[in-house]
Amino acid sequence: MASIETPIMQPLRAIAGDWKLLPSFMPVPGMGALAVNSLVLNCSEPLLVDTGLAALRDDWLERLGEVVDPVDLKWIWISHADADHVGNLAALLEVAPSAKVLTSFLGMGKLAMAGIRPERMQIVEPGGLLEIGGRRLLPIRPPYYDAPETLGLFDPGDGLLFTADCYGALLPGPVERAEDAGVQALREGMVQWSAVDSPWLGQVDRDGLGATLKAFGALAPQCVVSSHLPPVAGGLETLSPIIFNAWCRNGGGPADTFHVEAVADVLHAAA
Ligand SMILES: [Fe+2]
Ligand SMILES: [Fe+2]
Repeated sequence: MASIETPIMQPLRAIAGDWKLLPSFMPVPGMGALAVNSLVLNCSEPLLVDTGLAALRDDWLERLGEVVDPVDLKWIWISHADADHVGNLAALLEVAPSAKVLTSFLGMGKLAMAGIRPERMQIVEPGGLLEIGGRRLLPIRPPYYDAPETLGLFDPGDGLLFTADCYGALLPGPVERAEDAGVQALREGMVQWSAVDSPWLGQVDRDGLGATLKAFGALAPQCVVSSHLPPVAGGLETLSPIIFNAWCRNGGGPADTFHVEAVADVLHAAA
């Protein structure tokens, strides 16, 4: 796992059923590397999930073109309006005239403020149902997140669960599979990322978070894809216990996670 100093794009990968992964990594100075994933569902109404890093625009558009011609793209699912998820949205809309952006009500407001025209957007909300190209997709709110508009999704047909920022990890360097990082690096990286990206976990009701993690387990996905971790086969059996042990046991995490040093307390409690 070599460290990186600039963002890199990895080759396109098939991950589950009709889903393809457009993987990239960005360096996080002093903390390692963070995966930044986009997904494509290749069906009769092609759907893209998130739009990658602006710093990798040419490479990212080239990878996307290996799966679907942007002219044929019908849907662009935006998990939330952070820069690492909408980095190429405006540029893509220019070359994808048929594509409509799917986002939550709050997401629509944030994207409108960023200059995306309302007529190019359609609202979906957690708990709803989206039917596209003969497929059923379930919008979900992940157990934790860094923006309230966040929309994950579950595809019961291919058993794929996309969790946005949830279950991400800061890793020492780019890997193709999460397990390639090793058990300890994965655990530490997930706890670090959750503490940095969702500091409110330190104040959350532990039983409530535990119940949410358990409810997600009932989905029994065959593949879990975070925006910020390579796909994990099965997935929740590996990932949820790490978060549960870090934030729901032993008194939970520190109340103030502003200082990165406080992450060590969480790691100690999770060991
Ligand atoms: Fe985010
Ligand atoms: Fe993110």
